[in-house]
Amino acid sequence: CGIVGVVGCKCATPVIFDALRRLEYRGYDSAGIATLVDGRIERRRAAGKLDNLAALLEREPLAGVTGIGHTRWATHGAPTENNAHPHGTERVSVVHNGIIENFEELRRELEQAGHVFTTETDSETVAQLVDFHLARGLSPRDAAFAALRRLEGAYALAMLFAGHDGLVIGARHGAPLVVGYGEQEMFLGSDSLALAPLTRRIAYLDDGDWVVVTRDGAEFFDASGERVERAVRTTALIAGSVGKDGYRHYMEKELHEHPVVIGQTLQRLIDPATRRVVLPDLPFDLASVPRAVVTACGSAFYAGMIGRYWLEGIARLPVDIDVASEMRYRDPPLTPGGLGLLISQSGETADTLAALRGMRARQQHIVSVLNVEQSTIARESDVVLGTVAGPEISVASTKAFTAQLSVLACLAIAAGRLRGTVSAEREQEMVAALLDLPSRASEVFDQAPAIREMAAVVANARDVLYLGRGSSFPVALEGALKLKEVSYIHAEAYAAGEMKHGPISLIDQTVPIVATVPSGPLFEKTVSNLQEARARGGRLLVFTDTKGAERLRGLAEIVVAIPTVDEFTSPVLQTIPVQMLAYEVALLKGTDVDQPRNLAKSVTVE
Ligand code: G6P
Repeated sequence: CGIVGVVGCKCATPVIFDALRRLEYRGYDSAGIATLVDGRIERRRAAGKLDNLAALLEREPLAGVTGIGHTRWATHGAPTENNAHPHGTERVSVVHNGIIENFEELRRELEQAGHVFTTETDSETVAQLVDFHLARGLSPRDAAFAALRRLEGAYALAMLFAGHDGLVIGARHGAPLVVGYGEQEMFLGSDSLALAPLTRRIAYLDDGDWVVVTRDGAEFFDASGERVERAVRTTALIAGSVGKDGYRHYMEKELHEHPVVIGQTLQRLIDPATRRVVLPDLPFDLASVPRAVVTACGSAFYAGMIGRYWLEGIARLPVDIDVASEMRYRDPPLTPGGLGLLISQSGETADTLAALRGMRARQQHIVSVLNVEQSTIARESDVVLGTVAGPEISVASTKAFTAQLSVLACLAIAAGRLRGTVSAEREQEMVAALLDLPSRASEVFDQAPAIREMAAVVANARDVLYLGRGSSFPVALEGALKLKEVSYIHAEAYAAGEMKHGPISLIDQTVPIVATVPSGPLFEKTVSNLQEARARGGRLLVFTDTKGAERLRGLAEIVVAIPTVDEFTSPVLQTIPVQMLAYEVALLKGTDVDQPRNLAKSVTVE
C-alpha cells in the first residue's frame, strides 16, 4: 500500500492525489483521502483504481490544507469502499500499510470498552486504539505513542486529528516511510519518488521511529519515545522520467528499454579502457567467502537463480538459494563471513528485507542488487550494486530483470578473478560478450512478428507449459510468471529434463509448450525433451538463436530465432522474447497490462 501525508498551506487534495498516482504501483485495489475542513475530518474513498477516486473528487471536492491519503493492496478485508483507507472516528483518521498481527486481540478489548467497528480491516483497530486514548483526554502525540506501544506486526502509519490543523503523525515499523521538507509545507510518503516533484529534501525514519509533522518541521522519536535526530538528505531522483513516451503501456516501453538499461548498468561496473570488471570497494574479501546465500522474490528470484549458475560455474563459489519468504524462516546453518546476496527492484520487499536481517544476524556480509538505491534494503546493506534501470512502473517487472543479470554477471566475473578461476584473458572475453549485449538486445525486437504469431496460439490456451534447461530454466520460470501476471493464463515452468517425471501427462493439443533452447552444451539434451513432447502431440513454440534455429524448424510449429551470443550471456538475451510474448498475449486478452488484478509492485507485507 502507499501512504501520503501533507501539512501545507494550499488545498491538500490535489497534492495528495498526485502523490497517490506515483504510489499506485504499491497497490490499486482502492484509494482514499481525508483532510481537515474547519477542524472536522472529511474523507472520500473509492473501490478500484485511482480513477474512481478522481471521479468521486470531481463530484464531491474535498477542501482542507492538512490531509492524508492511501492507495491499497488488500490484506485483511475485501477491496470494497468500506474497507478503503483512511479509517477512523470523529477524532482521528488513519492510513496504514502493513499488517497489525495482534489486531483481533486489540479489537476485542476495544469492543468491550464500547468501540464500534465499521470495517473488517486490521487498520481500523489502530484508529480505534488512538481514539480510545484521545477520548481519555490525551493529546494527539501522547495518544499516538500510547497506541503504537500496543501494536505488533509490520506497519507504516499516518494519522490526522480533528481540531488539530497543521498536524500529521507518522510511524514506521517494518514498512517504509519518509518525511519531505518543503517551503512552509511538510510531507509524509511511502517513498521519496512519491514526493519527488514536491521536494527532494528527505529524511528517512529508522525502524521503530515515529514523527510529529507540522508546518514548521518534523520532530522524530524512537520506539521508546526518546527524541532523536534524523538527517535530511537531498535525493537524486528525477521525477520527469516517469512517462510512457508514446508507448501504449509502461510494460511495452520498459521492454524496449532492455538494451539501454543493460548498457547503463554494465557501464557502472566495467572499465572500458581495460575491459575489466570493477566492483565498488568491498569491506570483505570475495576470494575467501566460504559460500553465498542468494535470496529474493518473484522475478528477482529468477534472476538470482541465473546468478547461481554463474557464481558456481564461473567463480566456483558454492551457492544456496531460496525465495525470501522461505529463507527467512529456514534457519540455515551459515559460516560467519559468508556472502548474503539480496536482489530486489524496489529494495522494499518485506520478505527480502527480513531475510537480509536473518543473514545479518548470522554474520554474513550483505551485498544487495537494487534498482532503488535509497530504499530500506539499501540502507541495511554493506554494499549496494545498483541496477541502472530507471523507474520501473509496470507492475510486471521486465527491464529490472536484465539489469539484475548484468550486475550478477559482473559479480561472478570479479569473484572468479579473485578466486583464481577466471584468467585475465577469459575475463576480457566475457566482458566483450557482455558489452555486445545492448546491440544484440536491440535486434531481438525484429522478431516481434513471429512472437505475435506465438501469442495468437498462447492466447487461446488455458494452460501453458514452459521448458528450459540449465540457465534457460529460470528464463522459462520468468516467462511463465510473466504470462500468469499479465494475461491470467495458467502457466507452469519445468526444467526440461524433469518434464518426463510428471507434466508430460498434461501434454495434448490444447497445452502449448513454450521452450527456451539456445545453442550450447545443453541444446541436444533439450531437443530430445522436445521430441518426447512432440511424440505425444504437443504443440511446440520455441525460442532459440540463429545457430539453433535450423535444427528446430522441422520439429517446432513456431521458431523465434534471436541473435546467437556467448553461451554465458544467452539467458540475458533469451529473457527478452519470453517477456515480449507475455505482453503480446495480454494485448490479445485485453487485460490491464500495467496493473494486473490482485498484484502490487512493491509488496511490503509478509
Ligand atoms: C512483487 C512484484 C514482482 C516482483 C516481486 C519482487 O510481487 O509483483 O514483479 O518481482 O514483488 O519485487 P522486488 O521489488 O523485491 O524486486
